[in-house]
Amino acid sequence: MLYTTKEQTFAGVRLQQTWSALFVLEKVLATNRPDLIIELGTGSGGLSHFFSLHAKTITFDKLNNVVKKIPEVVYNIADIFELADIAHIDELIKTNGKVFLFCDNGDKKREFVLFVPMLKKGDLVFVHDYGIEIHEKDIKATVSKYKLEPVEDEICDCAKTLLRGFRLP
Ligand SMILES: C[S@@+](CC[C@H](N)C(=O)[O-])C[C@H]1O[C@@H](n2cnc3c(N)ncnc32)[C@H](O)[C@@H]1O
Repeated sequence: MLYTTKEQTFAGVRLQQTWSALFVLEKVLATNRPDLIIELGTGSGGLSHFFSLHAKTITFDKLNNVVKKIPEVVYNIADIFELADIAHIDELIKTNGKVFLFCDNGDKKREFVLFVPMLKKGDLVFVHDYGIEIHEKDIKATVSKYKLEPVEDEICDCAKTLLRGFRLP
């Protein structure tokens, strides 16, 4: 139950993470205290809600399936692989302090490789569905090129979160 990805909610709004992922993300966000959270893939919006309690949160999805919008979250209906939207995300990363980037759209490999090079020193990136939709081989070159440091990988695995996180040194 703790580790399934069905029927979970935050504040009553559906999210597509395991319950255990919330504990782990709580630790990561409380420890690292980002200034801005960018979520790629909003879904129903439950995770955006959770994120917004930690920092200013801007979320992107090509569909509008948010069950309950809250004023603390900026919701963008956008295809994150369109040039204008890539530029928008790049600008958000450049013009804000510490960024926490959460990759959870339909093509995690592509977004990881595309957006990680935009990150600044100290920024963090987490990707969902690690080991299912995205594997070590997909990110290895990027991790090595940018010397990404793992963040809480032991508890991510131990709590079966399907998350993998890194910090840009
Ligand atoms: C797994 S859901 C996100 C779940 C949410 N992060 C959560 O934890 O509850 C993935 C979302 O990515 C969106 N998506 C897929 N391809 C996209 C793209 N190219 N641009 C923007 N959103 C995309 C889908 O519409 C879907 O809502």
